[in-house]
Amino acid sequence: MKRVVVVGASGSIGRQTLEVARARRDRIRVVGLAALRDDAFLVEAARAFDVAALAFADAEAARRAEARLRSLGQGDVRVEGGPGAVARLAAWPEADLVVSAAWGAAGLEATLAALEAGHDVALANKESLVVGGELVVRLARARGARLLPVDSEHSAAFQLWQGRAHEMRRLWLTASGGPFHGRPRQELEQARPAEALRPPTWRMGARITVDSATLFNKGLEVIEAHWLFGLPYEAIEVVVHPESRVHAIAELKDGSFLAHVGPPDMRLPIQYALSWPERWEPAVEPEPPTGWGALRFQPVDREAFPALDLCYEAGRRGGTAPAALNAAKEEAVLAFLAGRIPLGEVVRTAEEALRRVAWRPATREALLLADAEARALARERIARCEGYARGEEGARP
Ligand SMILES: NC(=O)c1ccc[n+]([C@@H]2O[C@H](COP(=O)([O-])OP(=O)(O)OC[C@H]3O[C@@H](n4cnc5c(N)ncnc54)[C@H](OP(=O)(O)O)[C@@H]3O)[C@@H](O)[C@H]2O)c1
Repeated sequence: MKRVVVVGASGSIGRQTLEVARARRDRIRVVGLAALRDDAFLVEAARAFDVAALAFADAEAARRAEARLRSLGQGDVRVEGGPGAVARLAAWPEADLVVSAAWGAAGLEATLAALEAGHDVALANKESLVVGGELVVRLARARGARLLPVDSEHSAAFQLWQGRAHEMRRLWLTASGGPFHGRPRQELEQARPAEALRPPTWRMGARITVDSATLFNKGLEVIEAHWLFGLPYEAIEVVVHPESRVHAIAELKDGSFLAHVGPPDMRLPIQYALSWPERWEPAVEPEPPTGWGALRFQPVDREAFPALDLCYEAGRRGGTAPAALNAAKEEAVLAFLAGRIPLGEVVRTAEEALRRVAWRPATREALLLADAEARALARERIARCEGYARGEEGARP
């Protein structure tokens, strides 16, 4: 029986993790749940799974959850809120494994806290490795804790890798291509949320869907793969595969290729991260090869999707560069979803932060500083863009 804490429990990955846990009550016991502020969902889930502890990054949400649990006669559930509360739950000794599935750079704190406590981490929060790869990998090694990938491509690569690392030449990550694949660049440039929120294959949260539309998501996954598998950037390739059946391809030394195939359903890689080193009965109905249809593989149009090369550049520069790029991108995605800027601006805002935020070696303090500087810069740029769009005098994006 694995005792599991789910960070980001109310999100898309968190809810699917709970679905898997519900189906595998014989193997998984959910002991703790954390989120930013969705107290209604966490209280409901705490009751359904008989969870011992809840944590919220937002202190007010914790107060609401506590009051609600008391009124339901469940005052024995431990509830914490405010700065440090989520990290404390991630480090809770009652857990064996932490599913790190918060959104964005905010997820790094819980990942580090879980590893510090020696817990294995099922890692969905790719930003933990994008922002703090060096720290995370070093800490996992020092504590003898494992990073079990949840991202479908990395879960696939992990399965291809096992026992075969010495035979590998290159890793190919697949990308669905998003709604702008094969479209003129201008369409992505001008796109508004309604156009970007049309994921072709996967069912995901809004923010990661926007990142998939620009290929930022794939770029972040390249950095994630670099840290997970210790691969140089030259050995990580991206290929567009619109059907999303093949999730990763390992190119071996002798020129043969091994591919991992599965339906585009996150419950599969989530279950594998929870079950590892075992493999359990299917979490979703298996799809026989006769149902796969034609599988296409196409090169990425790097001119139409400059975000991909920005991520390679940030990854190669290392230090605080990926943290700056990612933080500005996060701010810009929120502004985009609020209808404040078009999609092309998301990419330019992130690029400006990559160019202008001072590079530093990746210490915890330096990463926080780079994150804050990049967000300030992004907010300024977004405000300038809005002024420009309104035709304000002197305003320039
Ligand atoms: N969705 C997918 O299919 C998918 C696939 C692969 C990888 N991922 C990765 O998984 C991560 C989560 O993605 P998602 O799509 O599940 O995101 P999402 O639907 O936006 O959910 C985000 C979750 O994080 C919580 N959260 C936000 N800030 C937090 C904080 N400071 N402390 C604790 N919890 C916090 C949110 O709580 P509230 O609900 O209270 O705001 C929510 O539970 C991302 O890194 C993403 O790249 C997602």
